[in-house]
Order: sequence, then C-alpha cells, then structure tokens
Amino acid sequence: MLRSALLNVMIKAAQKASRTLKRDFGEIEHLQVSLKGPANFVTAADRRAEEILREELERARPGYGFLGEEGGAREGSDKTHRWIVDPLDGTMNFLHGIPHFAISLALEREGTIVAGVIYNPANDELYTAERGKGAFLNDQRLRVAARKRLADAVVACALPHPSRGDVELTRREHIAVLDKVAGLRRFGAAALDLAWVAAGRLDAYWERSLSPWDMAAGIALIREAGGFVTDLDGRDTMLASGGIVAGNDAIHRELLAALKAAGKA
Ligand code: IPD
Ligand code: CA
Ligand code: CA
Repeated sequence: MLRSALLNVMIKAAQKASRTLKRDFGEIEHLQVSLKGPANFVTAADRRAEEILREELERARPGYGFLGEEGGAREGSDKTHRWIVDPLDGTMNFLHGIPHFAISLALEREGTIVAGVIYNPANDELYTAERGKGAFLNDQRLRVAARKRLADAVVACALPHPSRGDVELTRREHIAVLDKVAGLRRFGAAALDLAWVAAGRLDAYWERSLSPWDMAAGIALIREAGGFVTDLDGRDTMLASGGIVAGNDAIHRELLAALKAAGKA
C-alpha cells in the first residue's frame, strides 16, 4: 500500500513509541501483585512514549507546534501546523493489564485536522486517515456501519468518575440511550472508540469532557470513513467544547436528538 510521506512520518513515530509501551505493558503483570502497584510505573511509561513521539515528529518536521497530554503545548516556528498527541490513551486499561489502549496522534493545519494515526500495540491494529485520502485499518479501507436505526445500533460511551462532570446529566443520558439502542458499551479508550466507529464495529459513540488529544486523530478517521462527528450541540467545535458524538449520518442524528432530550429533561 502506498502511503504519503506525512503518514509515513506519523506511523514511524507511533511504531517507535509503541516499542517502549509494549515492553512496559509486559512488566505490568508483575507489578499488579507488588504492594506499590503499577501507577507510578505507568506515568513514567506515558512520559517516555510522549518523549519519543515528540523527538521523532520534531526531527521529521522541524518547527511544527506540539500539544501533548504529558508535556503540554510547545509553540513552533511554523504557526500553521501542530501535532496533537496522546502517547497512551486507555491508561486505566493499560494499568490493569487489559490490552485495549493506543497511541493517538494527529496533525492540525490552520485549525483543521488533516491526518490521524491511532495504533494499538497490543494487537498491532494501525488506523490511519488523511484528509481526502480515506481511512484505513492496516491495509483495509474503512467505512462506517450502514445501520439506519438507533434501535439496531451498538453504541459506546464513557462512565466518568463521579468526581468529573455533571453526574445527574450523565445518568440521564445513559438511561435515555440505553432505552433506545441494541447495546451500550464502555471500552475505556476514546481514541479506539472513534477508530471502531470508523471501522463499523461500533455504530456510534459519545462522550463529554474529552481533551483534544483524545479525539483529534479519531475525528480524521470518522470523517474519512464517511461518518459524522460533532459536539453535543451539533457543532464542529469538538476540540474546544470537549464533547463528541460520532456515527453514520442517520445514527448520529438520532443519538444527538436523544442526548439533547436527556439534557433538557
Ligand atoms: C481517557 C480515555 C477514556 C475516556 C477519558 C480519557 P487517558 O484517556 O480515553 O476512555 O473516557 O475521558 O481521559 O487518560 O486514558 O489518556
Ligand atoms: Ca486520552
Ligand atoms: Ca493519555
């Protein structure tokens, strides 16, 4: 498969960072039983992976800005480009030895996300998308699911900790959606939730209070797979608002309406 130079840069960085994550994930099992637990270890794993990503991306594209979950924002001399990076999405899964986590990186050009790469090193699934060039899982072209009714849909969501956000609203949304769908799921890695919607494994996904690095690459994938993605007000301001609703045209519309109704209840 012929990939652009840009995607090759992103994939190379993700694969390099994945080597340390994979090694660290292998250690987690031993640490589960230690008294100290793996929490500090995971924080270090996270930071190491982000360092590698930053170094690789900076070397390939000097001057681009960088926004990473661990290191925060760094301005570059090129104000039109910015990498948006989550070195480890699905930290809780990683920490518990659950092989459902990913590296997520996106490139923003003049405020528009133009490419995204999401890589799960545990099963070697590599999701890539570039504006106007399609979305792929490894070599396979992706397309969102074709189901037309929310009643037939399997939908992923978040179960935020009660200390985060509006607990009552979250409960109302869960109950409202649970009543209307074929199945509701919580997998624990926002980037992979979005990648799975792009791959048609999930029909839709929504979450509030995300950060740009959780969703930037996933947004590129959804759009290139023919899906719809907005925030919970139906607007194109996901990165600013932190809310996201993704699915095909019909399911996205129905899910958004159900969430809006739950918000007003
Ligand atoms: C988290 C995961 C999780 C989502 C949280 C995120 P992290 O990212 O994506 O699925 O529900 O809102 O913060 O902390 O594992 O990188
Ligand atoms: Ca994340
Ligand atoms: Ca993270």
